[in-house]
Amino acid sequence: MRVNGVSYRTVWMEDGAVKMIDQRLLPFRFEVGSLRTHQETAEAIRNMTVRGAGAIGVAAGYAMAQAALAAPESGFNGAMNQAAALISGTRPTARNLFYAVERVLEEVEAASGVSAKRMAASATAQAIADEDAAAGERIGEVGQSLFGDSTTVLTHCNAGWLAFADWGTALAPVYRAHRDGKHVRVFATETRPRGQGAKLTAWELSQEGVPHTLIPDAASGHLLRQGQVNVILVGADRIAANGDVANKIGTYTLALLAKAHRVPFYVAAPTTTIDLNCPSGDRIPIEERADEEVLWTTGITEDGQITRVRTTPEGTRACNWAFDVTPAALITGLITARGIIKAEPKAIHAIMRL
Ligand code: MRU
Repeated sequence: MRVNGVSYRTVWMEDGAVKMIDQRLLPFRFEVGSLRTHQETAEAIRNMTVRGAGAIGVAAGYAMAQAALAAPESGFNGAMNQAAALISGTRPTARNLFYAVERVLEEVEAASGVSAKRMAASATAQAIADEDAAAGERIGEVGQSLFGDSTTVLTHCNAGWLAFADWGTALAPVYRAHRDGKHVRVFATETRPRGQGAKLTAWELSQEGVPHTLIPDAASGHLLRQGQVNVILVGADRIAANGDVANKIGTYTLALLAKAHRVPFYVAAPTTTIDLNCPSGDRIPIEERADEEVLWTTGITEDGQITRVRTTPEGTRACNWAFDVTPAALITGLITARGIIKAEPKAIHAIMRL
């Protein structure tokens, strides 16, 4: 997608280095980081330089490729297993991370000879990135069929192109419709505590010229009660086999509000987010992050310094679950690159076979 008119992917690989837009600095500064080793790339996933299910999956695939390029000939398999464990241990909830690590490892194991294994790792990592971008683009086409000539969307967190290699999921139909000349405007929730809506979604929508308005998370109920929203679109970090969805904390509340106000509630995701081995949302590991993310916040001063400030009394403690689970029964449909389906086991298994 475009940043100041130039096309970028969120994460890519160049001469053995993994390049990524440093999302910790947005919207204040646009910088591209360069990670030389799989350990550095794993750390960038852990510290949220790159974040969002698809983007961390792509970064994880590239990290595995870096590990394969650097692994010694003797002890190659052991080094790859170690790298897989390191990368898999960075964040627990997004299925795409594990999908990428497992897929690269399988391809490496299937190739014979170390140089073929190195090539298989790089080719697979690149395929994961390309497929992620293509899935986002297709989700845009599929999802925009829900829009009339003039549509108001409410979204939560950032499920735009920053959260994937390109295009995104929940925002992909918005970008498609906007580029096709339909009137679409977006209400974006701030998304406490990390502010992915305020910092990332608002920035992305500005770059694409999509009309948008930021609301505090707590304003969603009031907004829906006023009847101002046609459709709610969110992303997913993991979809269980029964259709339950783990997504950014606050999604469940929004789904309950949507039901109360009879507003369609769609989850957009690539099939790489679906975990058929996970029977229901109760089994999805929910990441708990440091309470300082709730107690402190980061912003920019009038003289341009990016600064962290405490917004709470000293000594107060906080809970910081990064995700929650929305039961399948509250979801109107899943928007995938293979069509819009019900959040039900039969439909989910059927699209995974396509
Ligand atoms: O904790 P993050 O920023 O990595 O959150 C993941 C997400 O981007 C959201 O939950 C999003 O809505 C899912 S779509 C990738």
